[in-house]
Parts: sequence; C-alpha cells; structure tokens
Amino acid sequence: MSDPHTADLFAPPAGEPQVLAPGAVLLPGAALDDAPALLAAIRDILARAPLRQMVTRGGFKMSVAMSNCGALGWISDRRGYRYAPLDPERDAPWPAMPPVLQALATTSATRAGFAGFVPDACLINRYAPGARMALHQDRDEADFDQPIVSLSLGLPAVFLFGGFERGDRPTRIPLGHGDVLVWGGPARLRFHGVLPVKDGTHPATGACRLNLTFRKAG
Ligand code: SIN
Ligand code: FE2
Repeated sequence: MSDPHTADLFAPPAGEPQVLAPGAVLLPGAALDDAPALLAAIRDILARAPLRQMVTRGGFKMSVAMSNCGALGWISDRRGYRYAPLDPERDAPWPAMPPVLQALATTSATRAGFAGFVPDACLINRYAPGARMALHQDRDEADFDQPIVSLSLGLPAVFLFGGFERGDRPTRIPLGHGDVLVWGGPARLRFHGVLPVKDGTHPATGACRLNLTFRKAG
C-alpha cells in the first residue's frame, strides 16, 4: 500500500511504460506501492553498511554517498572503479539483497523487455541537495547483455540520458519518487548522469534522493 499523502499529493499515478530509445524504458511510478517496504529494506542495509563518500582514482571525493547490497558492491578508490565482494570499510561482505529489492528489479526488467534478469549487485546512491553525477557509461560489469535497472525514491532529479559519445547532447528525463528506469540491449552503453539535486524535502526520504541501480556485475 502506498502512503495516500505521498501518492495523491506529491507523485503522479503509475503510468504506462515510456520507451525513451531502443532498449531504454521508463516505468513511471512502478515502485510507488512497494516504496514503504523498499525504504524499510534500504534503511536496514544502511544501518549495517553505512553510506560513505568514495574517492575517484584522481582523488576527488564524490558528491553522492554510496553503499551496496548483494554479492558484489561497486566501489571506487585511488586504484579506480570495480566490483568487490567485501565492503572495504568493514572488511565484511555487503548485506544480502533483500527479496523485495530483487523482485522489483526482476519485475521491472521483464516489463522493459529483459526477462530473466537476476541482479547480483545493488548500488545505493544518496544525493543530498547539490549532489550530482557526471556523465559516464556503466562498463565495470562482466556482461553487457544484462540491463541496468534504476529505482528513484524521494526528491526528484533530472536524469541526463546521453548517446554513445561523451559529447552527445543528453535528453533530460525528470525522475521522481517511485519511478524505475531500465536501459539495456542497444541502450546499455549510453552515457548518463544526474543534474545537481535541488533543495527540498520529501515525505518518504527527507532532504535527499535515493537511487538504487541493480546490475548483474559478475
Ligand atoms: C548511476 O548512474 O549510477 C546513477 C543514476 C541515478 O542516480 O539516477
Ligand atoms: Fe551509471
């Protein structure tokens, strides 16, 4: 059940899938009904594997705070980007991926045309107001035949959906609470990023946007 205040006042109703480009499908509001359960599961993960701002190979601290669940977690440090089975902060495995998260990823991928998607990695991104993500490709995964499933919760953001060259002008896709975006197949290696999140508070998350990206990394 969705919180009636959240559903009626702040979020559009769940809508029809929108094909943004071949292989890229927006599922508006696909996670609205499950949002309270998803957020409870996320809070439990973050209590065990706290959010942290990682540094890039170049030594810059990322504005987005991150954690992971699943068999593999995405990390960045002075050695570069990679997937790792252990959380380097705790020298312990990442928390397991809760069934409610895995089910959302698999169902969303199927709705977008990618049946049989079973993620082994879920990166949790927390954007405080002002946090952003520069244009990049997701290419640290073993198999580019597997899609990316991206869940947005809390404050809205503008997703930049680019082309296959860094310089290609991106399309601006507004993403709000409960939206799920899937890109795979011919869209798998498109550049993408997120504009700085605007100040605000959301009834479900407070003053932040949460983004979860599900991947088959290994
Ligand atoms: C990412 O590309 O990992 C994050 C995308 C998003 O925050 O919507
Ligand atoms: Fe990405």
